[in-house]
Amino acid sequence: MPPPYERQVFVCTNERPATDPRGCCKDKGSEQVLSALKKALKDQGLAGKVRANASGCLDACSQGVSVVVYPEGVWYGKVSQADAEEIVASHLVGGRPVERLRMDLGALKKVPKAEK
Ligand code: FES
Repeated sequence: MPPPYERQVFVCTNERPATDPRGCCKDKGSEQVLSALKKALKDQGLAGKVRANASGCLDACSQGVSVVVYPEGVWYGKVSQADAEEIVASHLVGGRPVERLRMDLGALKKVPKAEK
């Protein structure tokens, strides 16, 4: 039996308190990014083939909003609502990842948790 989707797009919608030095993707607009991706997938006729899902922290908080496309494992960082249509049209329809949005995985910064 084939997998139910050709691709899955995970969008971190993790939320942390405003006092947490790590920040969170929810405060950077991740829910709007997820909604825009879902709408663009539907508009492009990819519903049922490509699924956009909310995820927990993807451990790339310093570059959020964090998005990853599987199975190819393309990571996008600092994604905004305005970028959703381009990701869908270029990458998910056209097969060309959006280079300007690729996450710099080598530049990820680990911010320690706040002291309790
Ligand atoms: S809070 Fe989004 S990657 Fe960690």
